[in-house]
Amino acid sequence: MSATAPRAASGAGAAKDDYTVFCEGIRSLTSIDLLQYKRGQMERRIRSFAQRRGVTDLLAYLAQLRRDRAELDEFLDRVTINVSQLWRNPEQWTVLEREVLPELIKAAPAGRVRAWSAGCSYGAEAYTLAALFRQLDRGTRAQIVGTDIDKRMVERAKLGRFSDEDARSASRTVLERWFTRAGDEWQASRELQALCRFEVGDLLRVQPRRDAYDLVLCRNTVIYFTEDVRDALHERLVASIRPGGYFVIGSTERVSRPRELGLVPTHPFTYRKS
Ligand SMILES: C[S@@+](CC[C@H](N)C(=O)[O-])C[C@H]1O[C@@H](n2cnc3c(N)ncnc32)[C@H](O)[C@@H]1O
Repeated sequence: MSATAPRAASGAGAAKDDYTVFCEGIRSLTSIDLLQYKRGQMERRIRSFAQRRGVTDLLAYLAQLRRDRAELDEFLDRVTINVSQLWRNPEQWTVLEREVLPELIKAAPAGRVRAWSAGCSYGAEAYTLAALFRQLDRGTRAQIVGTDIDKRMVERAKLGRFSDEDARSASRTVLERWFTRAGDEWQASRELQALCRFEVGDLLRVQPRRDAYDLVLCRNTVIYFTEDVRDALHERLVASIRPGGYFVIGSTERVSRPRELGLVPTHPFTYRKS
């Protein structure tokens, strides 16, 4: 049998193939529902990872993950795809710095802009945003929450440490202004840390409060979801933005029907809620 051909799982009912049973097993172990992600790329990723660990049968691999916590952590690293960067896609940050944040700061009572980095990984996006807020308004009381399904990433985000690789898109000037060198890493300053808070959260389950945020960034996270799941998530995220607030997506992503959600595009991958 080829590595990617679906196979009915014995005893699991004719309709369920081994991939489905595998995903259900992962959901009961970790609460992460891989069936909501695009199957093609996720299945290839999982099968090739299992094969490299010497297991070709997904159900055998599931049994191994149930027994071995360290292996489960490695597996989650592989499927949650945590890559991020400070100032990732710098052109988006230029728009935020020059256009969006000044408008939000001006409109917010006492400079208290509320922002959400949805799918924050190890926090690079949230700390980049914090640096921009501080740059624009030294006394800012902006509140940035970062959420991610992967609790190990959330723990890392709380530390605020970044490698040179993570910092490759940031200018030396901003790095030296807002981060300190700690060994071979960049440590976010207390000033930035004071603006950021990180929590574990599954975007597929979260029901955020209406009008809770002035700005929501959800970049490079929905690319793994099926289109229906992505659209439903966009709808919930946009509902959490107050009228006049902004929604920013990744530079390879799209919102299916922005106008139906009350979004007006203002810059590439950036929308204002009317
Ligand atoms: C590629 S990173 C993007 C990080 C950051 N937004 C950026 O653009 O650099 C994608 C993140 O989405 C998170 N993620 C995937 N599925 C998620 C879900 N259902 N709920 C919350 N976070 C999720 C992953 O754990 C990962 O850290």
